[in-house]
Formats: sequence, structure tokens, C-alpha cells
Amino acid sequence: MPAISKRGQEIYLSPFRKLIPYADQAKAEGKKVYHLNIGQPDILTPPSAIQAVKDTDMKILAYSQAIGNLSYRKKLVSYYKDYGMWLKPSDMIVTTGASEAILFLFLSCLAPGDEIIIPEPFYANYNGFAQMAGVVVKPITCSLEDGFALPTINDFEAAITEKTKAIFITNPNNPTGCVYPEDILIELSQIVKVYDLFLFADEVYREFCFDGQQFFSVLQVEDLAENVVIIDSISKRFSACGARIGTIVSRNREVIDSVTKYAKLRLSPPGFEQVLAEATLDVDPSYMEETIEEYQRRRDVVFDRLRQMEGVVNYRPGGAFYAFAKLPIDNGDKFCQWLLEDFDHNGETLMLAPGEGFYATEGLGEQEVRMAYVLNTNDLNRAMDCLEQALATYPGRVVLEKVNSKVSD
Ligand SMILES: Cc1ncc(COP(=O)(O)O)c(C=O)c1O
Repeated sequence: MPAISKRGQEIYLSPFRKLIPYADQAKAEGKKVYHLNIGQPDILTPPSAIQAVKDTDMKILAYSQAIGNLSYRKKLVSYYKDYGMWLKPSDMIVTTGASEAILFLFLSCLAPGDEIIIPEPFYANYNGFAQMAGVVVKPITCSLEDGFALPTINDFEAAITEKTKAIFITNPNNPTGCVYPEDILIELSQIVKVYDLFLFADEVYREFCFDGQQFFSVLQVEDLAENVVIIDSISKRFSACGARIGTIVSRNREVIDSVTKYAKLRLSPPGFEQVLAEATLDVDPSYMEETIEEYQRRRDVVFDRLRQMEGVVNYRPGGAFYAFAKLPIDNGDKFCQWLLEDFDHNGETLMLAPGEGFYATEGLGEQEVRMAYVLNTNDLNRAMDCLEQALATYPGRVVLEKVNSKVSD
């Protein structure tokens, strides 16, 4: 049998996958499992956008332009304008999800061995794309006690070496739910400018900012247009993960030209799904208002319930649909497996994502977990009942050092 390559053998596999067989087994045994482990929203995809696909009258499902349909990119111009981003259709490339956008960006902007600074914890798949492009991830650790606020400018400066080519932020953040305020992003922009770095901003959760917070994009910063690249997607915004439609947005011509060549190699983004994506831009604003309200209600449930659990350290996440918390447990991997294998509360349990997988620094996040609040508030409350009960009976329960979140009210 021919052997696969070393690269093929060593390719990154999401650390969360190893829990799936335990969840399947729990379900086979008749347990109800509340899935808070994955960011798959349960909100309906806008019916009018699905209808637009049904209404198409294509006789041939042809390749689209490699950079995406012009009609879609033209409409995106006014979408971004509403966020203070002034763009032309030629500043955008439609990709097969944000995932492809990230890979294309790494391949276009970074050489093997180049370093990219990412505040941790971060969306774990960035590791895989960095590995595919031979890029070295340099994490800067954020702290749970201050709600995973962006590291200070001094921290960023200390992490910059002659190999640093880019800083990568996720705003609002997965897994922390942190929303970065305008003044902090402007400060960060100054460093980016001084060291002439790329600033990649993954804004796939842009709409999901709670408590009246105003979203601010680094693309709004004057004089930074050539450094900034935005990664975008309709997966979360319109609960359309399966559509596989993302976007790269930049006013840097060289970036767009290089990514265009990658886009041409894979010929075309998905066809029907671009029709769906275009139709999302005509969806009644009430859809988004109600979605944001619903996520905020869920955030409140998770935050309030966690706050009442003895020994848990948490904070009020300001956006996206994730909460990250520190639990009084010996090890997140063990705890999450135990929840599925050995625990039930009236025939029910929950699945969480262990925190360690979101850190690049070894040994961090051992007692942390991420919860995606992608269930209705009833189910979330039941999942929180399970968690409360589980923490009371888990054999590996430990006493955490007394640390209080500074942002827990
Ligand atoms: C921060 C972030 N970026 C990118 C992605 C991938 O998005 P897509 O489905 O558009 O590939 C995800 C998915 O969970 C995400 O959370």
C-alpha cells in the first residue's frame, strides 16, 4: 500500500472530534444530549432566501465568476456601507465559507515560517489553516478574569519579531464572546501601522453585539486600509452554515489580486448558495433584530445560571453566541467525556467543548470550557440544570483559587 505524505499524516484534526463517539454512545443508550459544543445555530435560515433558490430557473448550473457573482458583490457594497466600510465590488472575493477565505489569506500573505500573532483562546481551526500554509502561530494569552479583553499594546509589541507578518483578531470573538471596542482597536491599528503588518479581522459574528454595543470594524480606521483584510461569512449571520458562502474584503490591491489567483484555481464558489446569499441582503431587518434579541436572551440565561454555580468563574460575554468559563474541575477533557459516559440527570446530559483546544500555549485552558448557546432558553436551562448537578457530583471536582471575574455584573 502506498504511504501517504508526512504532511497528510500530521494534518491538524480538531481536538473536539474525539468526544463525538461518546456522544453517539450516550444517545444510543437513550440519553438526551444537549449540544452546546458546536456553533451550529438552531435559528431558521431566512425562508425568503431559501425561496429565492427555489425560484431560480437555471437550466445549467454553471461556474460563476471565480471571485463571485458581480450582482452579489454589488449588493454587499451597501451592506458594508451601513457599517461604515466604503468598498467597491472589486474589493471583495466570494469564497467557499470563511474557512476558505482564511486559507487563501494565509497562502497569499504569509510565507512558510512567517509568524502570525493571535490572541488566545482562538477559533481552533486557525491552527489547521496555519499548518497548511506553514505559518507559525504566536499566541498572546488573554485573561478570563477580565472577560478576555484584547491584550495590551505592550503585549502585542513584545510578541512582534522580525518574522511577524500579521496580527489576527476575531471580533466578536469565538470562543470568548468578547467584543472589542473602537478605542482599543484604534490603538491596535497604530502598532499595525508602525510595524507595517497585515491585520486580519474575522468578523463573521459582526451582527451579534449585545447590550447596545456598537460594532466597530478595523476597516473603518483611517489610513489603515492597505493593512486590513476582513474575513466574513453568512454561516452564522443568517444561520446558513451549509451554504458555504464567505467573503474576503480588502482595499489592498495586491492581496485581492493574489487571492483571485487562488480563487481561479478552484474555479468558482457555490452556485445556488450565491443566490441564497444575495437574497439574505433583502431580508426584512426584523429577522436580524429578533435573532440578536434571542441570542442576548440566551446569553443572559447562560451567564446568570453559571454565576450561581459554586466555584465557577465566568463573565458576561458581549457578543457572538459563546460563553467561556472556568469550572472547578481537574481537567476539561476528562470532565466533558465523563458528562457523556458516566453522568445523567433525569436521563439528560450536555456536551461541551473543552477549553484546551482553543489555546496554542500548552497547558492552558485545562479547567475551561466553551458553551455555544445555540439552543432555545428552555433547553439551555435544562442543560444548565445538568451542568449544575454534574459539578456537584463529578469525582474530579477541585477547589479553584479564589479569582473573581472583574466583569461579572
Ligand atoms: C470565528 C470563525 N471564523 C470562521 C468560521 C468558519 O466559518 P464558515 O462556515 O464560513 O467557513 C467559524 C465557524 O465556526 C468561526 O467561528
